[in-house]
Amino acid sequence: MKRILVTGAGGQIGSWLVPRLREAYGASGVLATDVRHSGLDSEGGPFQVVDATNPKAVGQAAMRHRADTIFHLAAILSAVGERDPRLAWHVNMTSLEAVLEVAREQECAVFVPSSIGVFGSSTPKRMTPQDTVMRPETIYGVTKLSGELLCDYYHKRYGVDSRGLRFPGIVSYGAPPGGGTTDWAVEIFHKAVRDGRYTSFLDADSQLDFMYMPDAIRAAIELMEADDAKVVHRNAYNVTAMQLTPASLGAIIAEHVPGFELSYQVDPVRQAIADSWPDQVDDSAAREEWGWCPAFDAAAMTADMLEHVRRPIQEA
Ligand SMILES: NC(=O)c1ccc[n+]([C@@H]2O[C@H](COP(=O)([O-])OP(=O)(O)OC[C@H]3O[C@@H](n4cnc5c(N)ncnc54)[C@H](O)[C@@H]3O)[C@@H](O)[C@H]2O)c1
Repeated sequence: MKRILVTGAGGQIGSWLVPRLREAYGASGVLATDVRHSGLDSEGGPFQVVDATNPKAVGQAAMRHRADTIFHLAAILSAVGERDPRLAWHVNMTSLEAVLEVAREQECAVFVPSSIGVFGSSTPKRMTPQDTVMRPETIYGVTKLSGELLCDYYHKRYGVDSRGLRFPGIVSYGAPPGGGTTDWAVEIFHKAVRDGRYTSFLDADSQLDFMYMPDAIRAAIELMEADDAKVVHRNAYNVTAMQLTPASLGAIIAEHVPGFELSYQVDPVRQAIADSWPDQVDDSAAREEWGWCPAFDAAAMTADMLEHVRRPIQEA
């Protein structure tokens, strides 16, 4: 990777990924793009407004930048997707097709994040295997699974070096999450620090996989840097770092925020999505093939999150 284009760069993941890529590969080598202006416009490196569903616009941006790698982050997430399924299908599939065509024509490698949303209630919930039954029940999951298949097709048919990770819920400070089912695990930190209490939209024992953002960024970069011969399950790898429920994370936060109160007001739409996803995925393929290993567990993540979320309040 030398000349990198990032789509959807202004979102939760992009706002972390772009600075890390610029540190590693040089500021001018990383072109951040998004359909909207974001904080990234003013930060050290090139930014351009690009609608990733427009193949011509993606092609021109990649050509001018002489991109050799595309990180394709533009997408509509799970909860927003259930509110407008046609929009989710349009954005997620049209943009992916545009990016894969550009990658084929301009010989770029492509990173496409998939999700634990590719699984459904007929998938084994415990230690969900890398290769298993996949019948997602959300439009988001349908687009993510279709995306994995399309990436595989472009690899086999055209030799495009496409690679992907089935990200779990990602916890971070900075840019807010974009409307997913796992957003509670970010909101809980902000509410704990600001109000000393949080009302969860998932029930107490809804267990899902999670990862702290620094691990997610490292996973994406390590996968793209991995020797091609090692990347067998390329689209896309199960990866996880920890399993959390609102109750278990709330208990860890309460160790740092005395008197922290957690209550529940279940949102049936997001609860149904969470119920259809695994309790814990088996990420041994990623560990064995290219050495995936998370650095943050729930305790380390909580301490770091609270330190950063508290900072603006202490400085104000
Ligand atoms: N954050 C998570 O917990 C998580 C988990 C699993 C997978 N993912 C995947 O990672 C990717 C990035 O997720 P995120 O959390 O940063 O999402 P986000 O919603 O925070 O950011 C998505 C970005 O895409 C942009 N966008 C939307 N439509 C666009 C278009 N037509 N053209 C260009 N840009 C457009 C938005 O403006 C936004 O900045 C997505 O593919 C998502 O499915 C995220």
